[in-house]
Amino acid sequence: MRPPQGSGHEAGAGSSPESAESALLGPSAPREARVLAIANQKGGVGKTTTAVNLGAALAEAGWRVLVVDLDPQGNATIGLGLDRQKLEVSLYEVLTQGLPVEECLQDGRVGGLKVAPATLDLVGAEIELVPAMSRELRLRRALEPVLPQFDFVLADCPPSLGLLTVNGLAAAGEVLVPIQCEYYALEGVEQLLQVIRLVKTQINPHLRVSAIVLTMYDARTKLAEQVAADVRSHFGGTVCRTIVPRTVRLSEAPSFGQPITVFDPASRGAIAYRELAKEVAGVAP
Ligand SMILES: Nc1ncnc2c1ncn2[C@@H]1O[C@H](COP(=O)(O)OP(=O)(O)O)[C@@H](O)[C@H]1O
Ligand SMILES: [Mg+2]
Repeated sequence: MRPPQGSGHEAGAGSSPESAESALLGPSAPREARVLAIANQKGGVGKTTTAVNLGAALAEAGWRVLVVDLDPQGNATIGLGLDRQKLEVSLYEVLTQGLPVEECLQDGRVGGLKVAPATLDLVGAEIELVPAMSRELRLRRALEPVLPQFDFVLADCPPSLGLLTVNGLAAAGEVLVPIQCEYYALEGVEQLLQVIRLVKTQINPHLRVSAIVLTMYDARTKLAEQVAADVRSHFGGTVCRTIVPRTVRLSEAPSFGQPITVFDPASRGAIAYRELAKEVAGVAP
């Protein structure tokens, strides 16, 4: 059974305070696949870990998933078991030369999971695209033909608010923002929301922040508890109930080129990402 379009994590709708943010929070408009940009310009907050493991958990549950690696570092590409040296084409050719996205798609580690991989070439795209026509819409246009083939597209954005992230936001219906349960957790988030607002008004009127995910939660510290409480009081129902714990296994999995659901299927990290997948998807496939 196909889920109703635009379903899923919608707790933000109606329950958020009447602030400048409230217009950004809530469910997305209907699309063929739900396209989520996983964005936060801070590095090391769990964007890639979430793209890889949420993607794998959604695929394990039977959804058709595409992970788009928008970060030239290619961590999602590597984390899903691909060897960047062996890739003949990548998202770089798709964004800069108009190569059909199908031609760069690779199988991830889980049935039902595909990857649009990144190589270091992608660094060049950020610069090469500057004078190009509709440079912000390259990813959106590239993905359009393949959207019917997927239920979820997760775009792992780089740690900046540059053109690659803007391409991710322009192609998405929703934004998932990982927030690390550490000091300065909310630092920069207002700036991110501003860019999302800008993309929404200029190019993508249906864009919504549909999920805020607390990551690297260390239950032994008072700080993590405090940060989680602060984030919840600030963003209300948009914050996912599922909290991703800080675990060594989650940090080890990428060096084996495996998502946590394959690397250690019974681990706390795997359980958390399966829970998050249920929460984000809302209904069974
Ligand atoms: N829940 C977690 N527990 C332990 N380590 C984590 C967790 N989430 C991410 N990490 C590790 O923290 C680092 C940064 O995470 P990453 O997902 O790459 O962040 P980003 O993509 O936002 O830069 C990586 O080394 C990753 O393996
Ligand atoms: Mg990353």
